[in-house]
Amino acid sequence: MRISCKAPAKVIISGEHSVVYGYPALVAAVDVYSRVIVETIDEFGPHEICSEKYGIGKVIGGALSGPSALKPLAKIINVFNESESFRGKLKVRVSSDIPPASGMGSSASISVALAYALLKIVYDDPPEEKVFKLAMEGERVAHANPSGVDVIAAIKGGLILFVKDKGFEKLEAGSGIFLLADSGMERNTREMVLKVASLKEKEPDLFNITMRSISDITVKISRVLQSDMIEAGKLMTLNHLLLSLLGVSNSRLDSIVWTSISSGAYGAKLTGAGGGGCVLILVDEKSLSQVEEALKSINVKSRVLKTVETGVRLEELD
Ligand code: MEV
Repeated sequence: MRISCKAPAKVIISGEHSVVYGYPALVAAVDVYSRVIVETIDEFGPHEICSEKYGIGKVIGGALSGPSALKPLAKIINVFNESESFRGKLKVRVSSDIPPASGMGSSASISVALAYALLKIVYDDPPEEKVFKLAMEGERVAHANPSGVDVIAAIKGGLILFVKDKGFEKLEAGSGIFLLADSGMERNTREMVLKVASLKEKEPDLFNITMRSISDITVKISRVLQSDMIEAGKLMTLNHLLLSLLGVSNSRLDSIVWTSISSGAYGAKLTGAGGGGCVLILVDEKSLSQVEEALKSINVKSRVLKTVETGVRLEELD
């Protein structure tokens, strides 16, 4: 049996970091994908993982021999093996158009595509809760204390208001245009999440005030995104300032934010864990090319994002 799946990337419009502590996050699935092909082989032996980016690994008796970047995938395969009725060997091929370490949820997208493809071996219609639980096994290896927001976006698609351990609500997409600007700096989600956790220890009052403010902003953006671009943009910029207070911005991200706003964007903020990665910019048709030009002048590449309504899905194999 051969199964091919693809799952989308995501951008967080508001609520990264605070979502880890139980506050809401607003996230959109976007039109960049990772793909996983799983082949079942009717014999015993090590499972094989072949990643276009990280190379080849073998999973033998629960342990991975190969690049450590494949550990999250090995964990998903092991948990699948232990919890489901499949007995045999697996060959897994992974490729992705999502830039890794950019804040676009590359690891969650791959984990979801793999979890879905594996569960498809044993279920006609893999239950969403099982896909979520299995993909989270990989995310727990990849990041410290993942909230699940990236995973839910890759499973469900669309625009989602998500609260960890509680659930999510699907929302209507707005009419504004989201531009994604790449700082070109790779960053590490685990490091950024730990940095915020250490602020919680050292300065609990500042931490709590900041988190509550981000939470208010997230809920407010989710209400105005469809109707009031000016307010949504200002709230995004305010969110960026609060993320800076948490210590997850830097001068490159700040300069992308202010360049965008001074050239006509409604607002802008870092998206994802921060420390590098991407900036999300809200613009309209009129100011789009001006903002793109301004970003070019500071050597920043940007692209217009399209929200996709469908999450993880099967693909035809040729
Ligand atoms: C990462 O895309 C978003 C963070 O909030 C971490 C998480 O929610 O797991 C920084």
